[in-house]
Amino acid sequence: MSYQVKPEKTPEESQAEVILRMFPSDANPAGNVFGGEILKHIDMVAGIVAQRHSQSNAVTVSMDSVNFIKPVYVGNVLKLNARINYVHNSSMEIEVKAEAEDIVTGIRTITGTAFVTFVALDKNGRPAEVPKLLLKTDEDRIKFEEGKIRMQERLKNRKKL
Ligand SMILES: CC(C)(COP(=O)(O)OP(=O)(O)OC[C@H]1O[C@@H](n2cnc3c(N)ncnc32)[C@H](O)[C@@H]1OP(=O)(O)O)[C@@H](O)C(=O)NCCC(=O)NCCS
Repeated sequence: MSYQVKPEKTPEESQAEVILRMFPSDANPAGNVFGGEILKHIDMVAGIVAQRHSQSNAVTVSMDSVNFIKPVYVGNVLKLNARINYVHNSSMEIEVKAEAEDIVTGIRTITGTAFVTFVALDKNGRPAEVPKLLLKTDEDRIKFEEGKIRMQERLKNRKKL
């Protein structure tokens, strides 16, 4: 099947949301969901955004600014919202926000945030250029500039490794 990859795309075109129910196997004996369980889903939804944007395979190269602000409990509905903020050549910064809903009370709380960097790969597993970001709104432009600064910091830290 033939398809075209656009030279530029808006963040809106690739944004993704997943909704999950938290079960006892996701949590410690007190009912607090493991951070690692949430991270797995953050990586997954960020990967959907990265692959939607790049229309290629894409792998995680870093996760940073991971904050668990409030607890998520067994029985909560977890909603993860992900959007692309910044792209360079093959790298993409994806921002993920996690919100937990208590189904009985209906109360929704932002419980966590993270930035995940993905790199698009070609068929040989080498970094591949991704479409540019088409910035249409003020929010898109601000997030792009902030993402650029964070990416420069990441690359500085990477050099130290
Ligand atoms: C992705 C991978 C092929 C990149 O290879 P590499 O030799 O580092 O390639 P480069 O140095 O040319 O970097 C490629 C891009 O990745 C970016 N990058 C690499 N490591 C990064 C990091 N830690 N943070 C942010 N960006 C990073 C570079 O800045 C560059 O971006 P650009 O093309 O937009 O300028 C390699 O790092 C890899 O295979 N990593 C494992 C990924 C993986 O398997 N993840 C799943 C969990 S194990």
